Amino acid sequence: MTKKTIPYSKQWVTRDDIHATCEILASDFLTTGPVIDRFEDKLCKLTQARHAIACTNGTSALHLACMALGIKSNDLGVTSPNSFLASANCIEFCGGQTDFIDIDAATLCMSPEKLETYCREQAVPRVVIPVDFSGIPADLPGFKALSRKFGFSIIEDAAHAIGSTYTFGGKTFACGSCAHSDMAIFSFHPVKTITTGEGGAVLTNDDKLADRLRTLRNHGMVKGRGRNNASTAPWYYEMETLGCNYRITDVQCALGLSQLDRLAQFKARRNQIATQYSKAFQENNQLIIPPKELTRSACPHLYPIQLTRGQDARLAMYNALKTQDIHCQIHYIPIYWQPYYANKYGYARGKCPWAETYYSRTLSLPLYPAMTEAQVQEVIGAVLENL
Ligand SMILES: Cc1ncc(COP(=O)(O)O)c(C=O)c1O
Repeated sequence: MTKKTIPYSKQWVTRDDIHATCEILASDFLTTGPVIDRFEDKLCKLTQARHAIACTNGTSALHLACMALGIKSNDLGVTSPNSFLASANCIEFCGGQTDFIDIDAATLCMSPEKLETYCREQAVPRVVIPVDFSGIPADLPGFKALSRKFGFSIIEDAAHAIGSTYTFGGKTFACGSCAHSDMAIFSFHPVKTITTGEGGAVLTNDDKLADRLRTLRNHGMVKGRGRNNASTAPWYYEMETLGCNYRITDVQCALGLSQLDRLAQFKARRNQIATQYSKAFQENNQLIIPPKELTRSACPHLYPIQLTRGQDARLAMYNALKTQDIHCQIHYIPIYWQPYYANKYGYARGKCPWAETYYSRTLSLPLYPAMTEAQVQEVIGAVLENL
């Protein structure tokens, strides 16, 4: 029997998922139908956020969130350099200016201390986009306290963090709850914890933002009589603002609903694998394992180790595992190293030292709930063997 490739992540789609999705193909609505509402309601129940607005992907969710805040030309937005491009690009889509706040070496998420220094010494942004890297909740209460002081808005990029929780003041909050943010976003790409094929959602507790997000998702169109009772025609609609077509389909949401039913199972298995990795690697001084939060309160999306011997050792490990059909990934190249950002803003190497050090030695090991026990042991063995 040929050995199966072990990817760094992978969806887990069951017969029930397929059945639920196919049923919608035979129904009256393939898109803009009732299943979208059911999916959004379920996201609200999960997170306790008041509103969920599902859309085409996590990138469009971030774009919608920035548009709903009214980010415009030259408004400043900041995010973590240790993230996917979309966390920053959403500011650029709106014509804003993007800057990056270094990570905290312990949490791998944006540092509130560094953000505070930035606000005091450089500029106060209009929007701060903390990222729950790998599923670890960013310090949202810390950012909320700073937003009260400096007046910025917060969009939690929870693309990695559906199912993760954090505690504050003796209470537990879900990532995406918006208890300490204006809006939060999820991604449902197949490598994420639950999937809709492509898909995303914006969450908020603010009725006005929710209204704007729904309008912006659908071309900026509002159905009805329009402003000043412009028309009584039953088909009348008005476009008050420039929006996009970021509508998700009912077919996708049927898959999402079915996947959400298994979120607890996904989380348990992801935690189990992450715990096995941590136990196997914690005593090895050539490896730094991810922060404890990853296996405590988070629903781990990634399992990023760091190789203390640095980038050559990391490259050797990446290649050695690849020859054994174990495909790792690197999360992330600091976003401001990308030519677009470096050229536009003149951002240079050394700008965010922790994000750069972290990038030079990190390696995300395979982590997905359908991984077999034998595959987990194979990865552990291969990592230890190749140090
Ligand atoms: C942190 C983060 N934010 C946003 C996104 C964008 O999500 P999507 O791929 O669904 O557009 C991603 C996707 O990888 C991500 O990792």
